[in-house]
Amino acid sequence: MLKPNAHYAELKDSYLFYNISQKVKAYAEAHPGARLLRLGIGDVSLPLCGAVIKALHEAVEDQAGRDFHGYMPECGAPFLRKAVAEHYRRHGAMISDDEVFISSGASDELGDILDLFDRESTALVMEPAYPAYVDANVMAGRKIIRLRSGIENGFLPSPCGDAKADLIYICSPNNPTGSVFDRAALRKWVDFANENGSVILFDAAYEAFIEDPGVPHSIFELEGAQTCAIEICSLSKTAGFTGTRLGYTVIPKLLVRGGMCLDDMWVRNRTTKTNGVSYIIQKGGAAVFTGEGQKQIKENIGVYKQNARVLMNALNKLGIRYCGGRNAPYVWLECPGGMKSREFFDFLLEKAQIIGTPGSGFGECGEGFFRFSCFGSPEDTEEAADRLLRLLR
Ligand code: MLT
Repeated sequence: MLKPNAHYAELKDSYLFYNISQKVKAYAEAHPGARLLRLGIGDVSLPLCGAVIKALHEAVEDQAGRDFHGYMPECGAPFLRKAVAEHYRRHGAMISDDEVFISSGASDELGDILDLFDRESTALVMEPAYPAYVDANVMAGRKIIRLRSGIENGFLPSPCGDAKADLIYICSPNNPTGSVFDRAALRKWVDFANENGSVILFDAAYEAFIEDPGVPHSIFELEGAQTCAIEICSLSKTAGFTGTRLGYTVIPKLLVRGGMCLDDMWVRNRTTKTNGVSYIIQKGGAAVFTGEGQKQIKENIGVYKQNARVLMNALNKLGIRYCGGRNAPYVWLECPGGMKSREFFDFLLEKAQIIGTPGSGFGECGEGFFRFSCFGSPEDTEEAADRLLRLLR
């Protein structure tokens, strides 16, 4: 008889954001007139920028006959792999075009990339963490080592004896805490991974929000990272592609484990398991890396950063401790009055119709914390800040 993957029984009953959306849906149905302010999931509210829209239109015309494309190369269109690699090189990370793989987004890729590693390998997750890191490894039956962090270390754990693992997840700027590893702190992890033969899975989905010059945008800005890291990035938050879907992954040729080159293995994987990302979407993505595209996406990011400032101002006035919001589109705050995360979620929904994300959804050490996303509309964010002030003052 067919046996299902029994590891699914070890997962929590539903995925964090699905669970919240169900709760919010029930509340909205019960309160049809309520104006809900959605600062929960990090989904963008601004449309794609003009340069991307123009490129998408042109690509549709190409598909109408002028320059028709069928199957795309599995690892990505050469024009986009080149544009991404040049973007890295401009930032001082010496990446070649064929070390870049185009994907349909970081969340898809973070799960798929695990195909490269033995199921007996262990995975280190620094909590609080994006829940897909844990869930994808639970599904594969992998042993997870949880490295807890908290206010005392700025949610930035350092390597230690307990952190030895085959795979090490690092997300900087961090989701959910918004904290960032500076060069010296990231250096320690690169050295640790090289010493132990680990592979770092570096989630750079929020790099475009970095404003402090000492914070690396890519792990490949650090010497030695090419022998121990894979970087996974996305245009979702950088350029508003959450619904359009496009990302990229960098696997250096120098990354070899057990005599096998992981870049070659990923070529083998992609050529078997995908037929590439759509030509139209890749054309739209390439426009992000043009001068005009970069200027326009920075304007949009500026709007989200202003949202962060609005929320941070309100929290300052309320005397609530928080981190993030500066180099990241998330503000991570302590629940007021010693409330638990889920209790504060219900309280904000009931009393102010504000939706956030309970910190406990990102791991046990997130209990007592709460996350606001800065991707809402400026109107909703201003209104949320006003409601917070009225409710908690
Ligand atoms: C989040 O809210 O943590 C993210 O939007 C989720 C994601 O990127 O999949």
